[in-house]
Order: sequence, then structure tokens, then C-alpha cells
Amino acid sequence: MARRRIIAGNWKMNKTPSEAVALCAELKDLVKNDAVDVVYCVPAIDIVPVVEAVKGTNVHVGAENFYIEDKGAFTGEISAPMLKDAGVEYIIIGHSERRDIFGENDVLINQKVKKAFEAGLKPILCCGESLALRKAGTYQEWIKRQITWDLSGVTADQVKNLVIAYEPIWAIGTGETATADQAEEVCKMIRETIAEMYDAPTAEAVRIQYGGSMNAGNAAELLSKADIDGGLIGGASLKPDFGKIVNA
Ligand code: 13P
Repeated sequence: MARRRIIAGNWKMNKTPSEAVALCAELKDLVKNDAVDVVYCVPAIDIVPVVEAVKGTNVHVGAENFYIEDKGAFTGEISAPMLKDAGVEYIIIGHSERRDIFGENDVLINQKVKKAFEAGLKPILCCGESLALRKAGTYQEWIKRQITWDLSGVTADQVKNLVIAYEPIWAIGTGETATADQAEEVCKMIRETIAEMYDAPTAEAVRIQYGGSMNAGNAAELLSKADIDGGLIGGASLKPDFGKIVNA
């Protein structure tokens, strides 16, 4: 079964609302490609203007974070139903920056995955190892454990609509990319893990992205691999280069 390619930008904490609208205009023609799902995952304050700015284009909007409760006394937080109502379709969950800087653990990440599905959002679940784990050679077990914990209680039908992003932490924002073979090795292992946890059709359906210093120069080779169905792009998603990745 052919999986549809998904190229998502993770804007992180960049772009004010007016800058976000300007970037949408700059990228509008460059990201045209009806064969690919194109997603901008943007800061919360940019969601409303970006949803408006991409109306009538092929771009889908994603968010970068939310809290697991639907509403109530959670000062400063945003809920999944709020994102859904604003026009958000995708939600990044378990990014290494949220795990490492904001202390999110796999228990919370698992709750977020389940809540996102309940609210009708499609999670982009991130996993990946540190440089120390890569050097120790235990990265596969680590990632397998992340996936197993993060998807506990998630159904096969839900996983068919899940996107998993393999993001080796040592390759994020460092300019150092995993080689296409290194990325494929892990993405294949993730698909095999899904087959073990669920079944073959679910593993065939789940889309797996690579993320970590993906750019216009290395995207085509990474995306040529059998188990790499797309990219989650940080730095290069803020530039016209993003259009080259979409069309790689
Ligand atoms: P860079 O593309 O800037 O390395 O960031 C990758 C990333 O963290 C995407 O979520």
C-alpha cells in the first residue's frame, strides 16, 4: 500500500503572528504539491492567523503543544478541543525539546496521544535517542521502549492515522544529519515494532518521518528510503528551502 508522503514544518518558538502570515505568503507557491501532505506546525499564538492565511491552499495546520484536560483551571494552557475548533489538524507530541526542557515523560505523552485522537487531531509522535545512547549502541531498545509506552492503550485504527517522527537528538539543529541508511534502519525498526504491537496492515499504514537537520540538499536521499514517508523539519521550514523539501 502506498503511503502518502507528509512533509511538516516545526516552526518551534519562531515567528510572531505577523511574521507567520508573511512566511505563509512567501511559501505559498513554493509548497504546491498535490501528492504530498504539507503541514505547518506553528506556535499557539500564530494558529488563528495561519489557518486564515493558508485557506484555499494545500497547506494543513498543526500545533506544537497542548494540555490533556479539555477545560478548566489550568492557567496558561490550551486544550485539544480548542485547537480542533481553531482549525488545527495535526499536533506534535513528545518532541525531545518538550521531553528535555519541559520534563514531559512517557506517561504524559501517552495521555496526550489518546486525548489528541479523542479530540479528532492527528498526532505526530516524536521519538529519538541522545548522542550517548547512539554511542552506547542501545538506541534501538530505547526507541522501542518510547513507542511501546507512548502508544499504550492506543487502538490499531488510531495508529493507522498516526504519524511517528524519528528525530535523533544529536541531529536536531546541529547541522549533523543521520545518514539515509542510519535513518532508514531506525524507521524500519519502528515499523517492525508497530507490526509486533498491532499487526502488518497497521504497520503498513502508519507514516514515519525523519527529522533532524533535514534540508533541501539531503531530503531527496532520505525520502527515497522505503520506510521514510516524510520529514519533520525545523530550521529549513522557515525558509524558501522548505518548498524544495516538499518537492524533493
Ligand atoms: P532541525 O530541522 O532544525 O534540525 O529541527 C528538527 C526538529 O526538531 C523538528 O521537529
